[in-house]
Order: sequence, then structure tokens, then C-alpha cells
Amino acid sequence: MKEQVIINEVGLRDGLQNQPITVDTDTKARMAQALVDAGVRYLEPVSFVSPKAVPQMADAAALTTRLPDAADVHYTALVPNLKGYQLARQAGYPTVALVLSTTDTFNQRNLNMSLEQAAQSCEAILAAARADGVATRTYISGAFACPYDGPVPVSLPQGLAARMFEAGSDAVAIADTIGGGNPLQMKHIMTPLIRDFGAERFYVHLHDTRGLAAAMAWQAADLGVRRFDASVGGLGGCPFAPGATGNMATEDLVYLLESCGLDTGIDIQRLREVVAIARQATDRPLGGRILSWIESQETRGTTVCL
Ligand code: COA
Ligand code: ZN
Repeated sequence: MKEQVIINEVGLRDGLQNQPITVDTDTKARMAQALVDAGVRYLEPVSFVSPKAVPQMADAAALTTRLPDAADVHYTALVPNLKGYQLARQAGYPTVALVLSTTDTFNQRNLNMSLEQAAQSCEAILAAARADGVATRTYISGAFACPYDGPVPVSLPQGLAARMFEAGSDAVAIADTIGGGNPLQMKHIMTPLIRDFGAERFYVHLHDTRGLAAAMAWQAADLGVRRFDASVGGLGGCPFAPGATGNMATEDLVYLLESCGLDTGIDIQRLREVVAIARQATDRPLGGRILSWIESQETRGTTVCL
């Protein structure tokens, strides 16, 4: 039997938060259903953030009531502070994602907090979540490069990840928020972390700004990481991380991992339906490399075997 990999779909959150137009709740709900139909079992559909800061996420509570209700589908809500945590809890999320960036500037722009304030805020959320029985995943954002301050030494994400585990985080997501990292950096960051905490406690979150996301994903997989974020059609970016393009496209990640013998449980052909909805809703050319290839083969009348 093939080894299983978890792909956590973040297109509805990380993807849609950065679109110039706000996609309506109906369309988001259709995308969520189509994702589940394609085999996606882990989704981060919303964040409970200030609607002034991110109007695209203002319908978080409303969308939550419209998500496919299946026992084997796991939902996470991103929370930037205790207020967001309380809103996510009210909405019934069993898992929350916290955010801690590696520099003062990035935390300030994203959360209006210094690095130390943001770390302490995460510690407070983690304590509350532990008491409430809510599972946690803490993002170390800008783990490879900061959009404002440039390159980040590997000791920074490593130290923050260790601090978050110590504070009770169940998992840590190492995030290349602006797509400024490389595979060697991935190896240097992850090797000691995996040794100290175990590969199963990590997620890797990649943006494909400079085309290295696939190489970095494989580097992480080769080190034993089996949990990845991705965004259907490569939707994404971050309004607080200038220069960042979309996440690694879910369909490209599925293709990469499946072609290397791992089982994602996701059907690329069915993901095309989600990309089609997203293309129409955002009025943008979307789709990872593998979709362009499939489309080119179909244009030539060639049968596509994946
Ligand atoms: N959800 C909804 N509203 C929130 C909120 C939350 N999680 N946290 C604060 N607010 C509201 C407050 O109630 C207050 O409302 P009011 O003006 O009507 O009284 C207002 O926002 C300001 O509250 P304050 O605590 O001073 O927040 P802030 O202005 O310092 O902003 C954040 C801090 C974290 C709320 C804001 O920076 C934010 O939402 N950032 C998220 C950025 C993001 O989504 N990044 C991408 C994902 S990592
Ligand atoms: Zn991201």
C-alpha cells in the first residue's frame, strides 16, 4: 500500500484573501464541495480576522455553515488573535491555525504586534485551545525570507517553532510566505526540527513566486514531511507580504507526490472543476503547470494518463 500524504487545501483562505474582488459565499461553498468531491479531506476555508484588514474573509461564519458536512473532512480556521480564536470556537472549528512571523516588521504589518507580542499572543491562544480541547497548528510565517527585512537565518524559524511546541502547539507549519526560499534552506531548517520533534508534527506551506516550490516540497517530503498546504489553481498571495504570488498549486503538488509513489487521495481531473469555478469567480488565469500540460494534450487529441 502507498504511503499517505495529507494535503491541506488553503485556496479558500490564503488564495481568496488576496484577490482584488471578494468572492461571494455561494461560490466559495461550491468550491468547497467540489474540492471534497475531488478527494480533499483537509481544508482551511476561512480566517477570523478583522473585516477591515481582510474584507474577503468577512463571511467566515456564514461560509462555515455552508461547508460540506462529512465526518472524514477536517476543517481549520486561521485566527490572528484571541478574539479570532473565540469566533472560530463559536463557529465550531475543531482545529485552529495561529500565525507568528519571524520578524518584528512582518508581525507589525500583519497583526499590529511586535514579534514578542505576537509570540505571547500565540502562547495565550495555545493555552486557551488546550483547555478547550481544540487542536492547534502554528504557522511560522516568513520562515525563509521576510517580505520587508529580507533573508531570515534558519535559527529564527527553528527557535520560534520550538517555542510554539513548548507552548503546546500540536503542529507547526513552516511557511515560505513569499516564495523566497530554496531546497537547501528547507533541508537546513527542517533537519534539526524533525530530529527534535518528529516529522509528523510539521506542515510545509509554500508559495511558488520564483518557481522553486516543487523542489522545496520534494526536499521536505524526502526528509519525511507528510503534511503540506496547497492552493487549488495556485490561487493566493498575501496582502501583507508584498511580492508574494500564489501558493503551490494543489494539482501540481498532487502530481509531484503521486508520481513519486505517495498517495494524496486527490483526483487531479476532478480538481479541474474547482479551478474552473475559481477562474470564473476571480476572472484570472489560474492553474498549475500540470493543468496547462493536460489542456495542451487534450487540444492535440491525446489521451492523458496521470
Ligand atoms: N476578528 C474580527 N474582528 C477583530 C478581530 C478578529 N480576530 N480582532 C480584532 N477585531 C476588531 C476589534 O473588535 C476592533 O473592532 P472595532 O473597531 O469595531 O472596535 C478592531 O478590529 C480593532 O481591534 P484591535 O484589537 O485594535 O486590532 P488591530 O487593529 O490591532 O488589528 C488584527 C489586529 C490582528 C485584528 C488585524 O491586524 C488582522 O485582522 N490581521 C489579520 C491579517 C491577515 O489575515 N493576514 C493573513 C493571514 S496570516
Ligand atoms: Zn501563504
